[in-house]
Amino acid sequence: MNYQEARSKLEQYGQLHVLRFYDELNDDQKEALLAQIEATDFSILHYVDNPHEGLSFGKITPLGAMELPEIEARREEFTQAGLEAIREGKVAAVLLAGGMGTRLGSSDPKCMYDIGLTRPVYIMQRLIENLTEVTDQAGVSIPLFIMTSEKNHDKTVAFMQAHDCFGYDASKIRYFVQEMAPAADRGGKVFMEARDRICTSPNGNGGWFLSMKKAGLLDVLHEEGIQWLNIFAVDNVLQRICDPCFVGATLKSGCAAGAKVVRKAFREEKVGAICLEDGRPSVVEYYDMTPELLAANNEKGEPAYNFGVIMNYLFREADLERIVDEILPVHVVEKKIEHIDDNGQPVHPAEPCGVKFEQLVVDMVRELSTCLPFEVVREKEFAPIKNPTGVDSVESARALCLQNGIVL
Ligand code: UTP
Repeated sequence: MNYQEARSKLEQYGQLHVLRFYDELNDDQKEALLAQIEATDFSILHYVDNPHEGLSFGKITPLGAMELPEIEARREEFTQAGLEAIREGKVAAVLLAGGMGTRLGSSDPKCMYDIGLTRPVYIMQRLIENLTEVTDQAGVSIPLFIMTSEKNHDKTVAFMQAHDCFGYDASKIRYFVQEMAPAADRGGKVFMEARDRICTSPNGNGGWFLSMKKAGLLDVLHEEGIQWLNIFAVDNVLQRICDPCFVGATLKSGCAAGAKVVRKAFREEKVGAICLEDGRPSVVEYYDMTPELLAANNEKGEPAYNFGVIMNYLFREADLERIVDEILPVHVVEKKIEHIDDNGQPVHPAEPCGVKFEQLVVDMVRELSTCLPFEVVREKEFAPIKNPTGVDSVESARALCLQNGIVL
């Protein structure tokens, strides 16, 4: 794309400020900026003024979970079924580690964060240790796919190599890089990251399977006979990954997916609750809960929307292939975005200052026909690290790790 073409594309979307520093750039920088302008989909910016476009608001009804007493009664049966599938190589793990972790505020990828007290204990190390418990139990290794973004890929890979993959079989680990989207101020003008670069940010965790497809990994899934994918977030340092009991329960349920869920601490707790939406599995975000939904009870007299999702899902691969080309809605999310100002000076915001555009896994769940919500004990399996202190923080996760006998 030449300068004139870039200019008219920017003009069409009201983004001419992108060329503010163009005359100061050297030839390589000019070329790089023009190429980025060509590659960028500026049409996404219209969501700033239309944040609800494409978001579904169907009829919400309850979806009961498989609860702890039933799971305990059938633990052995489920565990054996899960172990069998794992031993047959049908199950793989997918770590979604493309996020920026802006709330945590570290410049390194979140997986590199050290939560140790008396020794280094990295977030990635905790995840690998949890997965290794299952590979030890099953007696086979499990393929692990790791999604990064162009912002954190090199550091993540180097970190894993430097730590010898925390003892995990390196030949079983494969990386893929997710897509990016521009980041903008609240008026819909893209931020500049540098004088020759538009600010971009990973486009949410919802596009993970499409990114796997674009990376050519579906061939690998087919060749290796992988039929189930357990996706999980980077920041829950207590979660069980490819948990045989969960795998077995989901397989036996006949559902296209399973979702690990925790019982809400109280009705108004700020977690997304599993539900049905127009008869399909879905998640109703806490800010979309009407007073009626909040007050609703089930036949046992308990809250009807009582189970929160923890971003640990098992998906049947064949069903993902069926929905992979569906367009997921775009969510406009307020975030802290590092950028340069009109004078080219760096800005390190302490508070959210603009918006990113994200697709979310929860919208992918809605595309499926069936999902088994599977209850887990919160204190044993849910220690998310979103913030340095307070709720869902390094502090709260450390306390939960210690409570579970993990030496930090
Ligand atoms: P979060 O919603 O916590 O987002 O991600 P984040 O970007 O990591 O953190 P904040 O909001 O800026 O503080 C939940 C999970 O989804 C992954 C994250 O890495 C984490 O495992 N994720 C999120 C991606 O893989 N890609 C994304 O674009 C966003």
